[in-house]
Amino acid sequence: MDTQDIINRLWQDYMEQNPEARRAHDVLLAEGETIVNDHIAFRTFDHPLINVDVLAKPFLENGYRESGHYVFEEKKLFAKHYEYPDDPQAPRIFISQLETGKFSTYLQETAKNLVAQIPEKLPGTADLLYCGSEWGLPEFAVYQKLKEESEYAAWLYVYGFRANHFTVSVNALKKYNSLEKLNEFLKQSGFLMNDSGGEIKGSPAQLLEQSSTMAGKLPVLFKEGVHEIPACYYEFARRYPDKNGTLYSGFIARSADKIFESTDNRNS
Ligand code: NI
Repeated sequence: MDTQDIINRLWQDYMEQNPEARRAHDVLLAEGETIVNDHIAFRTFDHPLINVDVLAKPFLENGYRESGHYVFEEKKLFAKHYEYPDDPQAPRIFISQLETGKFSTYLQETAKNLVAQIPEKLPGTADLLYCGSEWGLPEFAVYQKLKEESEYAAWLYVYGFRANHFTVSVNALKKYNSLEKLNEFLKQSGFLMNDSGGEIKGSPAQLLEQSSTMAGKLPVLFKEGVHEIPACYYEFARRYPDKNGTLYSGFIARSADKIFESTDNRNS
C-alpha cells in the first residue's frame, strides 16, 4: 500500500470521527484555500511490538526518512518525525510514544494488557495505523483512572490507532497566511482555540508557530454506557526559513507539550 493510500484512509477516518475538524477544513475550502498537510500525528505506547519504530515501518518502506527526534519531559513522551524527501508537499509524519515506565504500575499493566490483545499480524503493517482499538469496548472507569495520570494514555485507550491530528500548512494558505489571521477567522466561525500556553505556540525566532482547535467532544460507547469525551483536534502550523533560507522542518518540544493539551477536557 503506498503512502497516498495510507493517508487517504487515515484522512477519511479522521473526517468521519471529527465533525469539528471537518467543519474547519470545509470553512477554509469555502474561503478558496488549498489545504496542504504539514504533518500527521500518531500516538502509541513504548512497547516493542507497537512503538514509534513499528508504526513508522510502512512509511519508511515507502521512501520516508527519519528526520528528527524529540523528548517531551513533562508529558513523558518520546517522538520522531519522518519526511519524504522526493516531494516537499508530502506531509511529515510525527509519531510519539508514551514512556510507560515513568508511570504507575497500574498504567504499565493496563498498557501491557492492551498490547497483548493486538492481533499478531498487525504490527509493522499499514493496517495497524488505522485499526482503532483492538481491545474491545473501553471501560469508563479505566479511562478516568488513566486520565488522572496521562490524558495521552486515556485517549489512546479509547481511540486506539488512528491519526491523532492532521495539521494544515499555514504557509500554503493565501488569505489566512498568518496564525493571527487564521485564528481570528476560526474563532469568528465558532471554533474554540486551545489557549493553553497562549493561542500561538512557538515564535518566528523558533522558526515554527502552531495553534490548534480544542478537540470536539463526541459520544463514545463504554461498557458502562455512553459518555461524551474529547476526540481529536485540528492543528495549524506556520514554518519560517532559517538563516540559509531553508524552511524549518522540525518540531519544538516545548510548544508541542502545550499542543498535546488540546485533547484535554474543556470546561464549557
Ligand atoms: Ni502536531
